[in-house]
Amino acid sequence: MAHVLGRPVSWLYAHAELYPALDQIDAFHELLRQLLAGVPPEYLTGRAAFHSIELLVTPAVLVPRPETETLVDLALERLAGRQRPRIADVGTGSGAIALALAHARPDALIVATELSSSALRVAARNVQEQRQEARVLLVQTDLLEGVDGRFDLVAANLPYVSDGDLEGVSAAVSRYEPWLALAGGADGLDLMRRLLRQLPRQVRPGGWALLEIGAGQGQAASEAARLAVPSAELRVLPDAWERDRVLTLRFAG
Ligand SMILES: C[S@@+](CC[C@H](N)C(=O)[O-])C[C@H]1O[C@@H](n2cnc3c(N)ncnc32)[C@H](O)[C@@H]1O
Repeated sequence: MAHVLGRPVSWLYAHAELYPALDQIDAFHELLRQLLAGVPPEYLTGRAAFHSIELLVTPAVLVPRPETETLVDLALERLAGRQRPRIADVGTGSGAIALALAHARPDALIVATELSSSALRVAARNVQEQRQEARVLLVQTDLLEGVDGRFDLVAANLPYVSDGDLEGVSAAVSRYEPWLALAGGADGLDLMRRLLRQLPRQVRPGGWALLEIGAGQGQAASEAARLAVPSAELRVLPDAWERDRVLTLRFAG
């Protein structure tokens, strides 16, 4: 209702005695109908809260998830003490990770990559809205292909839903969110394996890679990382719900 009226939710509480106009009630009912059909509320309002920022979202991008805030917090901890860190966000979608990091670290330089042109258009609007054009560079490419230089930290929330699980994810997720943002191949780790192979030439000595994984993927993701980067120190860290969520690699210094 706050969205229909173009007011903050607090305004509704302060004006409980007011009746909406008939066309506003119709618009409200239409939103309810779509919600009940499973459309994520963020696609209806076009806005999503993530970490310390708010983002524009459309069905071209995944709605940023609270689990991914864990990855942002872990990245910030690891960047503490590094001046002007160079960061990559691979598969940026709405720009969520890149922009949350840019907000928290005004001295960082961030390259955010994305394969989908329609997702990149949403990310570009968010970069503009947050006035981060000077520090967040968007690049359309496959993972880190063609991206120059090395990074202090590479963050990625790539698609990691396995072919088998894709059928099981809720109808709302598979029907309304972009397939390119979800599908990770037979065991869900296809894209991560490819990115892991690119990492040794893209991460500075002593630098980090933080990769979001699915709750049951800790062991398989660690094995893939051990094969690709045998010298890196690996850890699997949980999200706020105590599920495996982030694989961290510390590169030898
Ligand atoms: C799970 S979504 C995450 C989006 C965003 N980082 C977030 O955390 O909300 C994965 C994103 O990776 C993008 N993607 C898929 N394959 C890619 C590839 N090969 N190279 C770059 N981006 C890719 C998808 O289009 C999607 O936007």
